[in-house]
Amino acid sequence: MDCHRTDDHVQQSLSSREISSKNSLLGEDSFRRVVEWAPSAMVMIDRDGIMVLVNAQTERMFDYGRDALIGQSVEILVPARFRQHHQTFRAGFFDDPQPRPMGAGRDLAGCRADGSEFPIEIGLNPITTEAGAMVLASIIDITERQRAQQRLEDALREKTVLLNEVHHRVKNNLQVITSLLNLQADYAADPQVRTILAESCGRLKAMALTHQLLYERKDFSRLDLGDYLKRLIQSIRSSYRAAGDRISLRLVLPSPAVQLDLERAMPFSLLINELVTNAFKHAFKGERNGEIVIEISEDENAQICLGVADDGIGLPPGAESAQASSLGLQLVQLFVEQLHGQLTIERNGGTRFSLRFPKRISSKEAA
Ligand SMILES: Nc1ncnc2c1ncn2[C@@H]1O[C@H](COP(=O)(O)OP(=O)(O)O)[C@@H](O)[C@H]1O
Ligand SMILES: [Mg+2]
Repeated sequence: MDCHRTDDHVQQSLSSREISSKNSLLGEDSFRRVVEWAPSAMVMIDRDGIMVLVNAQTERMFDYGRDALIGQSVEILVPARFRQHHQTFRAGFFDDPQPRPMGAGRDLAGCRADGSEFPIEIGLNPITTEAGAMVLASIIDITERQRAQQRLEDALREKTVLLNEVHHRVKNNLQVITSLLNLQADYAADPQVRTILAESCGRLKAMALTHQLLYERKDFSRLDLGDYLKRLIQSIRSSYRAAGDRISLRLVLPSPAVQLDLERAMPFSLLINELVTNAFKHAFKGERNGEIVIEISEDENAQICLGVADDGIGLPPGAESAQASSLGLQLVQLFVEQLHGQLTIERNGGTRFSLRFPKRISSKEAA
């Protein structure tokens, strides 16, 4: 459709409705051009809902020739079941004409010449002309947008299901390895080998638990530390049943809960596992009674603070040094580095490990 012909067409359509060609706005060549070549369908209606001007995009969108639209009620473009309501709405709009989107929050539909429907979005603009008050509606077909959105939602749902499955399987596999190590431990005559295998099982359980919480909570990007700790401690405690009621455990958690991203959840969980396991294993030798307190907080500099304290026999001098040959505390140092954190140890009527690390690692540090 060439530009010239369309302009004539608009003019012709207008005169067919006997709208004053002297109308200052409609007479503007530029106005007619803007409307005609707008990417959205533009429909101008008068107070009675009669279409006095439509553009090329309206013809394409609704599959009507222009002559079949001009002079007709705009309700032919509305699905039959909404026509009545549309009429009422239209009268209301003319009583209080303000530029605004139509039917905000509701699904609007247009109706093509063959009766088929499609989703639309409509902007309404009141216009005062010499021929009276008019409304210029700009209409967008949002079929493609809705399809794209649906595709995105489907893809996201699929990804969630897959991630869920992956975490589930990883957790199951770790559980299988744990069971195998347990079996192996039953065959080990040497108590030291048994202890080593039991501690390895503890580490695997700490890892499996992170995966379990991720799929249980359906949040695959972060871990709720409070949730995690409650479950981890239960698991460690059940491995040290022999300690019975001699050792009490207290967990101090902040509100709101602290969340940790996935990358750091693993070293963090393994680190806590080492410290709490040590407290159970070493701090209360000789049937001592005591308490283990695990405390998490977040300070004003977005640092996560962890305290694991016991009132047991105290850490022997030098146990934490790099020369000490034990694996547990060396692993602790490694996890502290991975978390870009700082660890302090106090020996004051027991042992207290305090760790402080940034909640978010700057991209420079991460590199
Ligand atoms: N909470 C604690 N209280 C007293 N002693 C501890 C505590 N934690 C660790 N230790 C001491 O530090 C040593 C090193 O710990 P670790 O490296 O975890 O090795 P492991 O637990 O295999 O002995 C332990 O053998 C123990 O003597
Ligand atoms: Mg240890």
